[in-house]
Amino acid sequence: LIHSPFNAKSDAELQSAWAELEILHASGKARSIGVSNFYPQHLTAILKTAKIKPAINQIEFHAYLQHPQLQKFQKEHNIALAAYGPLVPLTKARPGPVDEVVQRLSAKYNVGEGEILLRWVIEQGIVAITTSGKESRLRGYLKAMEFSLTPEEVREISVEGEKKYFRGYWTTRFPPGDRS
Ligand SMILES: NC(=O)c1ccc[n+]([C@@H]2O[C@H](COP(=O)([O-])OP(=O)(O)OC[C@H]3O[C@@H](n4cnc5c(N)ncnc54)[C@H](OP(=O)(O)O)[C@@H]3O)[C@@H](O)[C@H]2O)c1
Repeated sequence: LIHSPFNAKSDAELQSAWAELEILHASGKARSIGVSNFYPQHLTAILKTAKIKPAINQIEFHAYLQHPQLQKFQKEHNIALAAYGPLVPLTKARPGPVDEVVQRLSAKYNVGEGEILLRWVIEQGIVAITTSGKESRLRGYLKAMEFSLTPEEVREISVEGEKKYFRGYWTTRFPPGDRS
């Protein structure tokens, strides 16, 4: 992955960085190449000259940062989305409007609240990436693969999540309230 587009001074710089990843791909050293923290304007820039499309874009994604425009753009261009920070509503943004529904569903499915937030990401066809230094939590995360939320439950978390804006990473790079 290219970690971020933020230090590029021009579209040409982004395009040349992407061309270097394409060389890596052609050499066989990387089977898939992608980007991180790219927004529609950055993806548009590299797609103008790309021979290979990014396989994936890894961005901060959770109930309080749902990126509707970016999601639409990536669906149209068939670029997968990976969510980092999926647990931000639990770890950094409490209290918040999803707390009640997440607690209720955690009791219903007998899993941790983190697993509800991970499952909400997965149900939307988005790759969820998380981390922990604790073995018990890592074991808990695996439970997110063993149950499903109903479409109504997914929608309820989305609707409640839209009531709050919170960005946990790269906070100075975006105007306050920017959900794009
Ligand atoms: N591309 C980028 O710019 C970028 C930026 C940030 C992160 N990332 C990637 O995203 C991956 C995921 O990291 P993340 O921090 O974003 O993930 P996250 O899923 O939002 O949070 C994981 C953190 O939450 C803590 N946690 C989990 N359950 C908890 C609970 N019930 N109560 C309190 N704390 C809890 C864990 O702490 P414990 O260790 O104590 O369990 C862990 O440090 C990273 O490995 C990194 O590779 C990428």
